[in-house]
Amino acid sequence: MLPIADEAVGHDPSARALAESRQIAAPGANYVLRNPLADRTAAGLPDAVCRGFHASLPGFAATPVREALATAEALGVAKVLVKDESDRLGLPSFKILGAAWAVCRELAERWRLGDAAGLRFDDLVRAAVDHPGLTLVAPTDGNHGRAVAHMASLLGLPAVVLMPAGTAQDRIDAIAAEGAEVRVTEFGYDDTVRMAAAMADDTHAVISDTSWPEYTRAPQDVIDGYATVVGEVTDLIAAGALPEPDVVAAQIGVGGFAAAVARGFAHRPGRLMVGVEPLDAACVTASVAVGRIISLPGEQRSAMAGLNCGTPSDIAWPDISTGFDAFSVIDDASAEQAMRLLAEDGIAAGESGAAGLAGLLGNRGDLGLTSSDTVLVFLTEGPTDARNYRRVVGGMEE
Ligand SMILES: Cc1ncc(COP(=O)(O)O)c(C=O)c1O
Repeated sequence: MLPIADEAVGHDPSARALAESRQIAAPGANYVLRNPLADRTAAGLPDAVCRGFHASLPGFAATPVREALATAEALGVAKVLVKDESDRLGLPSFKILGAAWAVCRELAERWRLGDAAGLRFDDLVRAAVDHPGLTLVAPTDGNHGRAVAHMASLLGLPAVVLMPAGTAQDRIDAIAAEGAEVRVTEFGYDDTVRMAAAMADDTHAVISDTSWPEYTRAPQDVIDGYATVVGEVTDLIAAGALPEPDVVAAQIGVGGFAAAVARGFAHRPGRLMVGVEPLDAACVTASVAVGRIISLPGEQRSAMAGLNCGTPSDIAWPDISTGFDAFSVIDDASAEQAMRLLAEDGIAAGESGAAGLAGLLGNRGDLGLTSSDTVLVFLTEGPTDARNYRRVVGGMEE
């Protein structure tokens, strides 16, 4: 059976109706859903086990947290802190952290290398020489596949990356430049994931960041790997170098990143945890509205390409469905506004990267932000579609 079929994850026609009616009743209009399932104490806790491995990756360094003054003024809050993942290990997004840890765990098991927690990058390089013939496979809408391709190239392994129809050429080229074979399918993201899943065998290791009922370990490892992003922020708070945020926003694709943010912040004293989704791909919001995972109909075509997912990851679901107080659903224009504002603060963000901030900007009245709030957002990617960045913000080199 193919993964992520409606019958595998449950499909509720009333949820489809809800999702459709939102778009029909208020085309293009932003909205907030107060989370009826919110129970922040029920979210999981972060697990720092990946951090030793991450620190062993060539060129590893913690990414900065920047203060965005113009953005704070426009948002009407006291402070905006931006955890800037636009240069993580030489790649323009945080995704390498999840991919690297999932690859480490996969290889540790396949090649019987022992407990992954004790492995370092050089151990994998040596083991790859002793175990030829393995190809890494990743379905992606951009960043995750590039990250898997990058890990494969560091380890000297071949990689095949499957991408949905309509993917921007820049994103395809960036993955091909990592040495991976890129296959652009005729389908949307969910069906592309199914195609990748069907390739799994003794010589193909599928490293997906979304899960289905028979495939959970790698997506779980991917979420665990994102703990490094969150842990770097909470380390600074613990050291007194950053204030505790009142409001934390996390953008949502299949939900893995937001699950890591929920694990890291839902148990802390902040007043408001906000999950952010594009209008065209609000699969978690629609699922939360009906109380269980559902799939959105059709293909998702938001400019926030990394968030264009129609089905939440069921591994991420327990954390995202409980760990957020509200979901802010926004249009592409809000993402563009956030990109321009961040540019005023000297921060270059891609569409998905700016989405957390866009979720606050696009619904700031309904979310009840106040002038005394300290806000934390995650800039999860720099510009990965140069043409669109120039159109929205201007001024980026060819
Ligand atoms: C830049 C960016 N931000 C956020 C996300 C969301 O991550 P997830 O799919 O784990 O929810 C993605 C996913 O690809 C992404 O590329």
